[in-house]
Amino acid sequence: MLRERLQADPHRPGYHFLPPANWMSDPNGLIQWRGEYHLFYQYNPEEPIWGPISWGHAVSRDLLHWQDLPVALSPTPDSPDSDGCWSGVIVDAAGIPTMIYSGNRNDRQLPCLAISTDDLLTWHKNPHNPLISASPVDLDLLTFRDHCVWRDGDDWYQLIGGGIRFRGGTALLYRSADLRQWEYLGPICDGRSAETGEIWECPDLFALGDQHVLIVSSIPLRRAIYLIGSFDGRTFTPHTDGDVDAGGHLYAPLSFRDDQGRRIMIGWLWEGRTLNAQIVAGWAGIMSLPRTLRLGSKGRLLAEPIAELEQLRRRHRQYCAIELPSDALINLEAKAGNMIEVDLTIDLGKATQVALAVCRAPDGSEQTLILFDRARGRLEIDRSIASLASTSHRESFGMDWSPASNGQIQVRVFVDRSVIEVFIEGECLTSRVYPQQANSLGLAIGAWGNDARLICADIWDMQPVW
Ligand code: FRU
Repeated sequence: MLRERLQADPHRPGYHFLPPANWMSDPNGLIQWRGEYHLFYQYNPEEPIWGPISWGHAVSRDLLHWQDLPVALSPTPDSPDSDGCWSGVIVDAAGIPTMIYSGNRNDRQLPCLAISTDDLLTWHKNPHNPLISASPVDLDLLTFRDHCVWRDGDDWYQLIGGGIRFRGGTALLYRSADLRQWEYLGPICDGRSAETGEIWECPDLFALGDQHVLIVSSIPLRRAIYLIGSFDGRTFTPHTDGDVDAGGHLYAPLSFRDDQGRRIMIGWLWEGRTLNAQIVAGWAGIMSLPRTLRLGSKGRLLAEPIAELEQLRRRHRQYCAIELPSDALINLEAKAGNMIEVDLTIDLGKATQVALAVCRAPDGSEQTLILFDRARGRLEIDRSIASLASTSHRESFGMDWSPASNGQIQVRVFVDRSVIEVFIEGECLTSRVYPQQANSLGLAIGAWGNDARLICADIWDMQPVW
């Protein structure tokens, strides 16, 4: 009923996951259990702002269509999680789904455990919580929370995120035989605060190809960062790093391995509007499209939207071999829509800039530009006129970029009402926009500085999942 009440809101995405109403942030406890995908999330069921946090829960067979399930975990008064059940993970402990999360009491977080005996629906908290009564005393820690848990041989290992004063973000390693008694082993690496921030939230460590990847969410950088390197069981040695998403809105991502062997990641996409606008809307926070991760050359972590998304494609149109004369925007479709996928191949020619305009009003008074700027070596999502509403954020986010040596761009763009996800050669940029006019549905493309050529554009309406 809550979900239906918000159905008419033109900014509610149609094929992205979001809760029935109110506040959602980090994905938690991602796991495939008896063939079904379970997604838990940081949820304030009372209000569309962060507050006392529970774990929301949804289940899916295809990572596209989700069924809401009852709240899985809520704060218990006078307990280690009395002020919130913060982020965590779920592991399969010899057939018993076991959750490790951060219990919050009096602004202090400590690891807690809960198990389920009914296929992840209800959870029983360990009466001996917290599992670890204090953070390591040998370090001057600014935080101690969020978990990554895995099994190696007979032992369980756990990472807890943190930050060491004047040194930087870190992840602390623990070992256990039973997931309940934990022995502290030490930090797995030394964060460099200038580059990767002072605090690491939500550490996620996993093997990918012949490397290890550590994903963390950084304070004060407000972005998710990946480090690729080697892990010898005690120490992680990063060789390269980068942003998980360059669009400025993805945070606290979490990954899991599914039964096809894919490493799938989902991230929280926060709002790009004022707190007041969020309260008026009655909801805040959506999940990114699930992405399959792989290693690229040059030490990059690359991501593609999961292949299942193609099942949502409906009405298809194609435009090929269109010249893009310099300094003009060509309308591809005035009413392309705001629940679409657009796959483009463009030959840059000698153009210095090429831009794709989405969610464009016929008179151009609203539009979001995906801007390929060869002159500045940047790829950006320009929101300066994405919305007429003064409550919408306008700043642009982007990344360093240069075209492939053949001068062609291949890009996939997913527009889903208030979210835009751009994938280009495995790099991703995700943004949030809130057009105000009902006819801000156009799709246009243009070149500047010289002519370019649209080799082909494929456009699909996307079928809503809600
Ligand atoms: C990241 C985070 C986590 C914490 C949770 C609380 O967004 O701050 O560190 O566990 O959110 O909701």
